[in-house]
Amino acid sequence: MLTTAAILAAKSRAVVASEQDPPTSFGPNDTIQVAVVGAGGRGQSHIDGFAGKPGTVVTHICDCDESHGQRSCESAAEKQGGRKPVWVKDIRKLLEDPSINAVSIATPNHWHALGAIWAVQAGKDVYVEKPVSHNVLEGRRAVQAARKHNRMVQTGTQSRSNPGMREAMEFIHSGGIGEVKVSRGLCYKPRPTIGPKGVYEVPKEVDYDLWSGPARILPLTRKRFHYDWHWQWEYGNGDLGNQGIHQMDLCRWALGEDRLSDRVWSFGGRFGYEDAGETANTQIVVHDYGPRKLIFEVRGLETPEYKGAKVGIIVEGSKGYLVMTSYASGTAFDLDGKPIKQFQGGGDDRHYKNFTDAMRARDHKILNADIEDGHLSSALCHLGNISLRLGKSIASPDMPAALRDGGGDSVVEDAWLRTAEHLTANKVENYQVQMGLPLQVDPISESFLGNHPPNEWLTREYRAPYTIPSESAV
Ligand SMILES: NC(=O)c1ccc[n+]([C@@H]2O[C@H](COP(=O)([O-])OP(=O)(O)OC[C@H]3O[C@@H](n4cnc5c(N)ncnc54)[C@H](O)[C@@H]3O)[C@@H](O)[C@H]2O)c1
Repeated sequence: MLTTAAILAAKSRAVVASEQDPPTSFGPNDTIQVAVVGAGGRGQSHIDGFAGKPGTVVTHICDCDESHGQRSCESAAEKQGGRKPVWVKDIRKLLEDPSINAVSIATPNHWHALGAIWAVQAGKDVYVEKPVSHNVLEGRRAVQAARKHNRMVQTGTQSRSNPGMREAMEFIHSGGIGEVKVSRGLCYKPRPTIGPKGVYEVPKEVDYDLWSGPARILPLTRKRFHYDWHWQWEYGNGDLGNQGIHQMDLCRWALGEDRLSDRVWSFGGRFGYEDAGETANTQIVVHDYGPRKLIFEVRGLETPEYKGAKVGIIVEGSKGYLVMTSYASGTAFDLDGKPIKQFQGGGDDRHYKNFTDAMRARDHKILNADIEDGHLSSALCHLGNISLRLGKSIASPDMPAALRDGGGDSVVEDAWLRTAEHLTANKVENYQVQMGLPLQVDPISESFLGNHPPNEWLTREYRAPYTIPSESAV
């Protein structure tokens, strides 16, 4: 268990540039050689982002599931005029290859920070999927490693490169809806049950030791091996850290906050089915930034939209509000609900291109989603989950009193009332709610304040040799 002092020391942001890492330079006509790590669903988009595109070629695909690795080498070859990447099973072997300039990581969440740190230590630039971490501390470590080794590390929050989204944010920041009071994220995305908890067989093509990496090697209790790890705490972060991290990031961007919040509070549960999943499918997270609020709603059961959005953000200001209904499009309204401006325009390719532009310029400030932004927004999700998991189960009729006791205001009460109606509409009755612990956060040291701070929740037990290095060793 880490002491608070150890965590504070670990969080120190002063990182000395490494002498072993002279800046890499790529001329405008040099081809950047990319290795994609994790060739599941999202890995295919990474391959699309670099294969057959001007100035990049996918030379390697790393996956500890041989079938995913081999299949993806074939599909990448088709996209880049027959040039077939080499399949590598173990990321450590991959990183020994000096020909690779960039590593693009689309593994499950529990591998993101470690993979990114190892890659920058090996002198590679990195594109790493969101959330960039599985816990708060390793995310900060990834930032430290990127700075120390002078590497470009882009986070896979691609809406940050969409012109429609960028224009909307500029509109908010220039006072288009007045003073922002509430930044609301919605992740209303129906998620079916993942099937009963059982003992299932790991697919024979998978090297389970490598797949588990920093996590414990546990019996497989979910039916579907790939993807459904999102709903088990050992590997995933629930929908808050799956779809929700995109909108959490936009909510924080809208507030213009480059730090964690002062206080976090979350409540919810997994409703509508009992299965192998552990994470909440219904959750409210409240982050206080002084008097301004970031409030996030996850709904995994069928639900109508709210103010026109299902997966989006609603930013409420003193002169109006702005609703982004996708990664790239939305509308600003005045206080009477009259549309005043529209925003549109996107495309994932821009985000990959922004990454390679920063690689060529050797300037992380060019990145639209630098690792530090990725870390902060990922950490907001982790803090919400910590609050939830530290709470206690209460009967739903006791919720109004519990909300008052926890300091809930009308914004929080309204979010809960709508959620309760939503559960009733889904025939969820006589239920218990996991009422999370409100936690004071020191946004500078990125740790909890108070007499018994649950700071051990900011990290995890790592399974050697898959350990996150200390700050001095990143
Ligand atoms: N930015 C986006 O819009 C977006 C969209 C979807 C998914 N994602 C993110 O992408 C990541 C992957 O999601 P997915 O749906 O493809 O998951 P998935 O489970 O389908 O695929 C993950 C792949 O990584 C491989 N893998 C696991 N450990 C590995 C290791 N140590 N080395 C090499 N390969 C390893 C698995 O074998 C699998 O092929 C997730 O973190 C998710 O949050 C982002």
